Amino acid sequence: MKSDIHYNDILSMVTHDLKSPMTAIMGELDMLSLDNLSKKEKEVSIKSARKASKNILRLIESILVMAKIEAGKENIELQTVDDLQGVFQDIVSTFKYEIKSKQINFIIKIEKNLPTVSWDIDKLQYHCFNNIISNALKFTPEKGTIQFSVMTQDKNSIAISIKDDGIGICKEKRHTIFEKFDTHENQKVFKGNGLGLYNAYNFIKQHNGTIKVVDGLHNKGIGFRITVPINPNKNKGN
Ligand SMILES: Nc1ncnc2c1ncn2[C@@H]1O[C@H](COP(=O)(O)OP(=O)(O)OP(=O)(O)O)[C@@H](O)[C@H]1O
Ligand SMILES: [Mg+2]
Repeated sequence: MKSDIHYNDILSMVTHDLKSPMTAIMGELDMLSLDNLSKKEKEVSIKSARKASKNILRLIESILVMAKIEAGKENIELQTVDDLQGVFQDIVSTFKYEIKSKQINFIIKIEKNLPTVSWDIDKLQYHCFNNIISNALKFTPEKGTIQFSVMTQDKNSIAISIKDDGIGICKEKRHTIFEKFDTHENQKVFKGNGLGLYNAYNFIKQHNGTIKVVDGLHNKGIGFRITVPINPNKNKGN
């Protein structure tokens, strides 16, 4: 099982994941050192070096978060969020370039007048919501459909659902996707570190919430349904 991963295995996976963006950056730097480069070529090299640097940063951040979670040191800090609708709109708008360039039919349904919640919104936003949206975009081919909805489930919790009609996840693999370093077997096409859902699951759990795999759209793809209590402390009985 992936949860039994040994320290040395982690080290070899991390170094392997660092190697390819580092090689890309070095290649682009070599390219940029040439004298006869056109403005367009320069722009392309800078863009691709920036993308590779971002991948390295993301990997480092995910690993740090994973290590802190496992040491019991990555605790959530609840804060009052009174514009949840705005927060979710901002989250979706950070993906607008990718949505547009893949011509995705992105259907958003965010309930108006969502209640004020007490969440660690940064952790949920960066490690959970961003990851499930970016997964849906990564695993859904061009012109596919993604449905994202946020609504009050009952008076105590918010339900967030994301469904796509992409490549989906086979039944046997569905129970391992929340484990660390569980990546898609085709890493050449679907790059990733396999830490997104592991970290997301842990932060949702710390909020006393749930995350479940559900059916996707059009008899294809996959879906995730998340519920987070409006006030996680209250549900703990504190
Ligand atoms: N929407 C989806 N469609 C198909 N497969 C998915 C989807 N979401 C997750 N998966 C599967 O679950 C695995 C784990 O997802 P996770 O977000 O943890 O890792 P990742 O996206 O590969 O890497 P990272 O998020 O760390 O960059 C993915 O590699 C993929 O195999
Ligand atoms: Mg991911």
